[in-house]
Amino acid sequence: MLMKKRWIVPVVLGLAGLLAFSACSAEPDKKSAADSSELSWWQKTIAYEIYVRSFKDSNGDGIGDLKGITSELDHLKELGVGAVWLTPCYQSPQADNGYDISDYYKIDPAYGTMEDMEKLIKEADKRGIKIVMDLVFNHTSEENEWFKESRSGKENDKSDWYIWADPKKDGGPPTNWRSIFGGSAWEYDETRKQYYLHTFLKEQPDLNWANPEVRQALIDVANFWVEKGVGGFRMDAITYIKKPETFADGKPDAADGRVGIHSMTANTEGILDYLSEFKSAVREGKDIFTVGEANGVSAKDLPDWVGPEGVLDMVFEFGHVNIDLLDEMNWCKTKDWKLPDLKALFTDSQKTTMGNDTWYPMFLENHDQPRSINHFLPENADRIDGGKALATVLLTMRGTPFIMQGEELGFVNVEWPSIDNYNDISTKNHYKFAIGEGYSEEEALDGVHHFSRDSARTPMHWDTSRHAGFTKGEPWIPVHDDYKTYNVASEKKDKDSVLNWYIALAKLRKEHPELIEGDYKELFPDSDQIYAYTRENDSEKMTVLVNLSTKKAEYDAACVSDAEQVLGSKGETKPGTLEPLEAVIFCNK
Ligand code: GLC
Repeated sequence: MLMKKRWIVPVVLGLAGLLAFSACSAEPDKKSAADSSELSWWQKTIAYEIYVRSFKDSNGDGIGDLKGITSELDHLKELGVGAVWLTPCYQSPQADNGYDISDYYKIDPAYGTMEDMEKLIKEADKRGIKIVMDLVFNHTSEENEWFKESRSGKENDKSDWYIWADPKKDGGPPTNWRSIFGGSAWEYDETRKQYYLHTFLKEQPDLNWANPEVRQALIDVANFWVEKGVGGFRMDAITYIKKPETFADGKPDAADGRVGIHSMTANTEGILDYLSEFKSAVREGKDIFTVGEANGVSAKDLPDWVGPEGVLDMVFEFGHVNIDLLDEMNWCKTKDWKLPDLKALFTDSQKTTMGNDTWYPMFLENHDQPRSINHFLPENADRIDGGKALATVLLTMRGTPFIMQGEELGFVNVEWPSIDNYNDISTKNHYKFAIGEGYSEEEALDGVHHFSRDSARTPMHWDTSRHAGFTKGEPWIPVHDDYKTYNVASEKKDKDSVLNWYIALAKLRKEHPELIEGDYKELFPDSDQIYAYTRENDSEKMTVLVNLSTKKAEYDAACVSDAEQVLGSKGETKPGTLEPLEAVIFCNK
């Protein structure tokens, strides 16, 4: 169990400037309590998302690849990462950068070969890191053999593997649903004289999960990858796999006369049956985990979705990342929010996971989201202080934190001068949609600057060399122009960098199981500057205080009167006061 003895000698983090007193330091030379707890490996670890196309290019073609990832595994190890989620690297025509899969059993040549993948899994294993594959199972690519056969006519073995429907009487699409990336969610097929449904791009036809053969084919794919030795799966767009029994028009929600497909198909009743079948056939009895992209599942639904009785191990919730959007399709329609709103969302999720064996994947960024410094902090926030403040929240919550590549360096959004500079197809569609809704080009571009997915997808910065050491060739998407300052090599050397703060937090988390599994209790919920909470288990209690505003903040120091500071982003703190964006962690005696 947990050690009781407290050490009075300072903990040496090897990073001058990061204050680290002793009150809660783990006893050296003893197995850390986190190792001996009942939790699974994936609950105790830190996860990291790699956008494969942008992480590291090994062959100079400007596209990140598997060999490149293998060559940089030590960076992840240093960050305390034990699970790496790879965005899809299967064979794909890349209409949506790999989220359109033409063969689930092959690696796309741009990313390498199956041997490269096997080597990556092996090399990662050696460092205690598991590779997590992205299962894109709501849809395939239109170039998948399954779809080619399905669209070849109404009579074939796979005719019912996708969602086909007859035109309306006037020849138009079966319903007025809008795809998530804009435009009709239906595409007409000349051969079948029918429409097929696509929740995302027309190049991404939706699979028909109602057909048991489809479900079996997908189970076979997942088990193929389990056999390869992966540590789990991120399940893409999983809330859309079950479609309603009948297709009907919805009330238009925009000038195009359409209704967003999300409101018509997300989390449809019966979805849990499909997923529980998947769980029995793939997950049960194996030391792997599943995490679902679960837009449409809220904190109150969680017990059905996760935990021993749930269908998955974890689900990503989106309440906090959507906090500023009135309409996910329209990046110009934003809403004001206040810190207590954001904190309440986290607190809801944290509470739901306590006491009923469910587990939470904490994230502030992913490859579809803006950078968190721009997303959650005031515009005038210092990016280094801000990056550290957000990192503190990310790494001290109950659950498994997911770091997005570059987040650990304090990456910020790109703001390119024209829509033509952007690569992402959904960004272009969102821009078009805003113009269609009557916004000016300038307003639409402003929305793009705030929300484009390209900001999360620019290449990783390794050093100060050309293209940040990402590639020796020409990168597929421009490197952020701030790379000379914000890169792994430079930040490693700088004791005050965001990267070194991440490393310190990761170390603290590993040594203090209460930061992983302890109860969460929010302090000062009404404060619109400070996010504060305690994390406590049977033996220890930590108090985390983060000023997420750019002004000095005061708080009642009674909460730390019997406590010692273990980490502080600005050195020794003055109890009762937090400097702008200061983050501090106390251990209560
Ligand atoms: C998910 C992915 C996103 C992708 C979409 C379609 O939302 O995260 O990147 O475009 O699914 O597969």
